[in-house]
Amino acid sequence: MLILGIESSCDETAVALVRGDRSIVAQRIASQDEAHRPFGGVVPELAARAHAERLTPMVAEVLDEAGVALADVDAVAATAGPGLIGGVMVGLVTGKALAWGAGKPLLAINHLEGHALSPRLADPALQFPYLLLLVSGGHCQLLGVEGVGRYRRLATTIDDAIGEAFDKTAKILGLGFPGGPAVERAARSGDARRFALPRPLLGSAEPHFSFAGLKSAVLRQWAALPDKTPTDRDDLAAGFQAAATDCLVDRTARAIAAFPQATALVVAGGVASNQHIRAALAAVAAAHGLGFVAPPLWLCTDNAAMIAWAGAERLALGLVDTLDAPARPRWPL
Ligand code: KG4
Ligand code: ZN
Repeated sequence: MLILGIESSCDETAVALVRGDRSIVAQRIASQDEAHRPFGGVVPELAARAHAERLTPMVAEVLDEAGVALADVDAVAATAGPGLIGGVMVGLVTGKALAWGAGKPLLAINHLEGHALSPRLADPALQFPYLLLLVSGGHCQLLGVEGVGRYRRLATTIDDAIGEAFDKTAKILGLGFPGGPAVERAARSGDARRFALPRPLLGSAEPHFSFAGLKSAVLRQWAALPDKTPTDRDDLAAGFQAAATDCLVDRTARAIAAFPQATALVVAGGVASNQHIRAALAAVAAAHGLGFVAPPLWLCTDNAAMIAWAGAERLALGLVDTLDAPARPRWPL
């Protein structure tokens, strides 16, 4: 089985060819960081235009590199949401046109399902059910993954997503865009104990996440500093990362108790590429006698291999879509 995957829901334009045996035949990921950097965040209109310019040539490049014709693929999988709607429409309509032209089935993929199943692309041994911590720019959720298309939401954020909190912290501290990796870098040389920062909902009986109060505390503490030296910046970045990690660990430990059938604790999404967070989650899994699975770093941030793989999992179950599949800005799993 050979699946062509397309991803365009945020600021990465990505195309991949993935086989049912998990081999990635070819892939391209074009980042739009340079286009959005002057604005300090992703500008939806610029993102959609860049996807429209890059996507079709990238499909041709990936097919060329693999030495594969469109007629050789078994299905076309494209992200159909959730995400920035202009970009989603570009990717989905491109996928529909390719599927229609080649007479192949279309798989309209939920981007979150792409993240949720991505650990199974990296680790053939990972079996359902597993407990998934999905941490990205738009989402922070704990999901009981019972099978393909069978997701039980155990917790979500009541305000900001964790990636958003990393990005806003980076902006406050003048660390630039994209924010998550910049905060992680700064935190490496910082003293996490210097600033007292809140840990919203820590120990709470309710299952959810909250990061707005932590972000506001970073803003207040930063504003109160007279000199704002590089050391101040690194210490506050480290304090923020430590507080956010404590929240993730606490909420995850709670969910482990609420989903005892899990065979493993799995983390996915852009924030899962953070080494400090990965280490803390590995420790909480070990403390509960659970295996821990974290995909390779490139598979955590947005890519098309995970979309193609979700397509492969769905095609194997006969879950194909029709050409009228809608593009959805919001689409909970
Ligand atoms: O999954 P993703 O690539 O796109 C979405 O679907 O949102 O996640 C992007 C998010 C951004 O908020 C980015 O700042 C964050 O993941 N991120 C990180 C790191 N790398 C990316 N956050 C913390 N540490 C990192 N190393
Ligand atoms: Zn994503």
